[in-house]
Order: sequence, then structure tokens, then C-alpha cells
Amino acid sequence: MTSLVLIGFMGAGKTTISKKLAARLDQPVIDMDDYLVQQLGCSIEQYFATFGEAAFRDHETALLKTILQKKAVIATGGGVVLQKENQELLKQQQVIYLKGEADILIERIRQDQTNIRPLALKNSDTKLREIMWEREKIYKSLAKITIDTSKKLPDEIITEIIKWVENNDENWVSRS
Ligand code: S3P
Repeated sequence: MTSLVLIGFMGAGKTTISKKLAARLDQPVIDMDDYLVQQLGCSIEQYFATFGEAAFRDHETALLKTILQKKAVIATGGGVVLQKENQELLKQQQVIYLKGEADILIERIRQDQTNIRPLALKNSDTKLREIMWEREKIYKSLAKITIDTSKKLPDEIITEIIKWVENNDENWVSRS
């Protein structure tokens, strides 16, 4: 039983696309960051500040294991791919990499007042570009399909994903 798992850097649109995609496919959606905020009882920013990034990654890994037991459209946090054991789990899923131009993603991250990312708080734009660059190879190595979202509307991205899914996984068929 595979899930459709959206990976990619912060600001790439994983949350927005996952919700719309799940609605189009009539399937449940799980946003890992939302779940973690509920589980942790505070914002991710507060959690990082109090317990540190490593503790957050442990929760993230445990959550990934649990949610992959059911079929769903999953929006991951941008750093989920860092843990080796998560990479192994993700290789068995239909992983969709939402990619974006660095300047556009950084602008989105900096503008987003409703979601304060700890990594964006503590790093300069130059450092964020470096982190993005380092992660790029991991995202690519796990992806079954890569979509550059920089200049596309959500509906275009979703149509592209659904076409791909219909051609590649008979368990995931669009009902629209
Ligand atoms: C992180 C990305 C965030 C969130 C946390 C760490 C990262 O999720 O999980 O702030 O390491 O890239 P989004 O990619 O949904 O912003």
C-alpha cells in the first residue's frame, strides 16, 4: 500500500498541493507539520527553541513510520528526508518532489507570517540556499517525479501529478 508523499524544501507548496490533490483524488490528507504541532503541544518554532532540532527529528521519524501504514496523500516537512531510516521508508512510496527556484522559495518563506520556520529564523538567505543545495540531491534521489512549481499554478501542478499517478500506479486513480 503506497502513499503519495510530497517532499521538497520549505515554501515549495507541499501543504497547499497536498490538500487540493487529496480532494481531487478523494483520499485522506496528512500534513506532518500540523500533526506534529498537535502532538508536541506547541509550535515547531517553540519546540526547536526548547528541545532542539534532534528531538524534533525523532518525533518526525516516529510519525512518518505511523502514517505510512495507511494510504494517504502526505505533506512532509522539508527536513524529513535527512534521516537515513526515513529515506529507506520513502523509497517504497510514490514520492513527488516539488521543486522551486531558490529566490522564490526564500521569498515565500520570509513572507509567511503564519508559519515561522526555525531554520529560516536562524539562517541567512545565503545559508538557506546552501541547505537547499545540499538537500537537492536527496530530494532527487527519492523522487519518482519532480515538478518545478516556481511558475505554475496549483491546478496545473495537480493536473500534472494526477496524470503521472494514473500512468504509474493503478491503486491511485482520479475520480474527477
Ligand atoms: C523544516 C521544514 C518545516 C518544518 C520544520 C523543519 C526543514 O516544514 O518541518 O520547520 O528542516 O526544512 P515545511 O517544509 O512544511 O516548511
